[in-house]
Amino acid sequence: MATRSIDGLEGLLRELGVGIAMPTYVGSDALWKPIDIYRSYLADMASKALGCDAGLAYEAIQSANVKDNTDLTLVLPKLKWGNSKPKDLAKEAFMKFSLTPLFQMPIPDGVHLRFIFSTLTLPRLILSYINDRTENHGQGRLLYGQPLPLTDGVTKKVVIEFSSPNLATKFNSHHLRSTVLGAQIANLYEYVGWDVVRLNFLGDWGKEIGLLGVGWKKFGSEEAFQENPMGHLHDIYEKINEQFKPEKEASRKARDEGHDTAEIEGQGIFAERDGFSKRMEDGESDEIGFWKRVRDASIAYYTHTYERLAISFDEFSGESQVNPESIAEVEAVLKERGIYEESDGSWIIDYSKHGPKSLGVSVLRGRTGSTSYLLRDIAAVLDRHKKYSFDKMIYVVAAEQDIHFQKVFQALRYMGHEDLAAQLEHVSFGKVQGLPKQLGEVHLLGEILDQSAKDTLKVLETNPYDHAGIDGNEKSADILSVTSLITQFCGLGKRATSYTINTQWLASFEGDTGPSLQLCYAKLRAKISESESEEAVLANVDYTYLQEDPWTEVLRVMAQYPDAVDAAIKSHEPSMILTYLFRLSEELQNCLEDEYDDEDEDENKDKGEAGSEEPPEAILAQTVLYKYAQQVLTNGMTVLGIVPIS
Ligand code: ARG
Repeated sequence: MATRSIDGLEGLLRELGVGIAMPTYVGSDALWKPIDIYRSYLADMASKALGCDAGLAYEAIQSANVKDNTDLTLVLPKLKWGNSKPKDLAKEAFMKFSLTPLFQMPIPDGVHLRFIFSTLTLPRLILSYINDRTENHGQGRLLYGQPLPLTDGVTKKVVIEFSSPNLATKFNSHHLRSTVLGAQIANLYEYVGWDVVRLNFLGDWGKEIGLLGVGWKKFGSEEAFQENPMGHLHDIYEKINEQFKPEKEASRKARDEGHDTAEIEGQGIFAERDGFSKRMEDGESDEIGFWKRVRDASIAYYTHTYERLAISFDEFSGESQVNPESIAEVEAVLKERGIYEESDGSWIIDYSKHGPKSLGVSVLRGRTGSTSYLLRDIAAVLDRHKKYSFDKMIYVVAAEQDIHFQKVFQALRYMGHEDLAAQLEHVSFGKVQGLPKQLGEVHLLGEILDQSAKDTLKVLETNPYDHAGIDGNEKSADILSVTSLITQFCGLGKRATSYTINTQWLASFEGDTGPSLQLCYAKLRAKISESESEEAVLANVDYTYLQEDPWTEVLRVMAQYPDAVDAAIKSHEPSMILTYLFRLSEELQNCLEDEYDDEDEDENKDKGEAGSEEPPEAILAQTVLYKYAQQVLTNGMTVLGIVPIS
């Protein structure tokens, strides 16, 4: 517990030879991020050495730079200090520093001074820090500079809407990416102390459900529905949609040629579909009965299937669930403010008239009186605010809907809800080019997961690669395939970048893949159990065995984990944690590989200790380091929704 308080932390620092109390700066949180301890002391040291303002110095510190092997960099021009020409600035500054317990001597580099943590104190500081936090290492207490009390009731609330599939049509790659990213962002908010509501906004209303209703009348079978509700509904939709295609084509063609589409749309499946939707809107019991069966079956199916991804929702909302009174309120206020107009029998907002121009014109209520997706989304904000009084609401939805959300937010501003609009954020993401080919034929989330697990099992069974004890059974295949889907749909770049799923990676243990993370975890586990003993605890560690490469490299990366979390939350980029985990795993491979290679070559192995060069104290220290590294790996995987393989 010691380092969980500033007093305790200072106690440890004193033992490491740091004589002064910890300086504090705005935005720094040494109890969450161990690197902030170093930042704070560096700022203090720089201010004393160079005679500049400590706050300014803190601002002038840049974070780790992997390329030039630096932990922290002091950017001298930001300090407005020194008389030298820029190229000699660092040399001049360098002369002013002396050795301290936390840092090695700085390295002058142009206008920068580069700092590397002292490896004499790093192992003890970081291992104690993680020891006092274990699964909480990485969980923050501060966000955006505002204190978040961990215990009493003033936590902030965020509603995170994600996944949101449409009940009639297939679960596509957007839905999968929204599911993965949304769950991760929700975990991250929880991680730093927010009260999180996970909400699924089902596409369970409107014309597509109408079409499904028409299809049910033609092709529906009670028996088939009982047996496999979602599969059957899906088949029906495919069939009716196929029959509907020529009519849709004809209508599109007529419209493009400037003809009236009313005649085409007034007959055939068109008329049946619209009739069904209208009766649904009017609350007719048959239609509502059908809709309810579809909705209930879908929620049961999805609840179960999301569980396979270890995801659950607090609420299955949906387009159907928007309160009619909120819809009426939106329309009334917009009308009152002169924003809502009638046009050709429809009700519209002409955004181009009221600004911003780029948003064009949108129909909120169609000619038949049906409410649009947009109108429902605007009204849903009012509902949710009433229900949850959130501080923030995030929509994790594909970039294709960028304009749609701008319209929702703008409409709220027109209504005078500026404050509410400011609490909303669309976290958008780029295209994933389809699902992997072998999964491309399947359209239900459960089938995607089944197929992917089957493929993974095949690889496990046929690949002779050493999987460090990961069995080729169905359970591991399930975990590995989910890991792989999560990593690939999270992505390694920014959310906005689009990319193609790499099918070869689906069950590959090489490169930056989900299974390779699991493999690293399994190797660590094997390593730990190999040398596990009751002695292998922090109190018995002789830190001198951890003061060199590759151990120090692992420790430096372990220390950075909370920084990665912080950056991921601020930018809503869970991929930053994934990238971080691959770095950690790479450093760990360096340790593990050395040893694996040793073992292969070491023909003296049978001779036991006599054949190995390392004393038992070194093995003990390394085992403890591996345990804590495994903890960090577990923490990062868990927040991304990946279950470490057992
Ligand atoms: N169901 C929609 C789709 O699949 C996504 C819903 C997004 N959320 C929202 N509040 N509009 O395209």
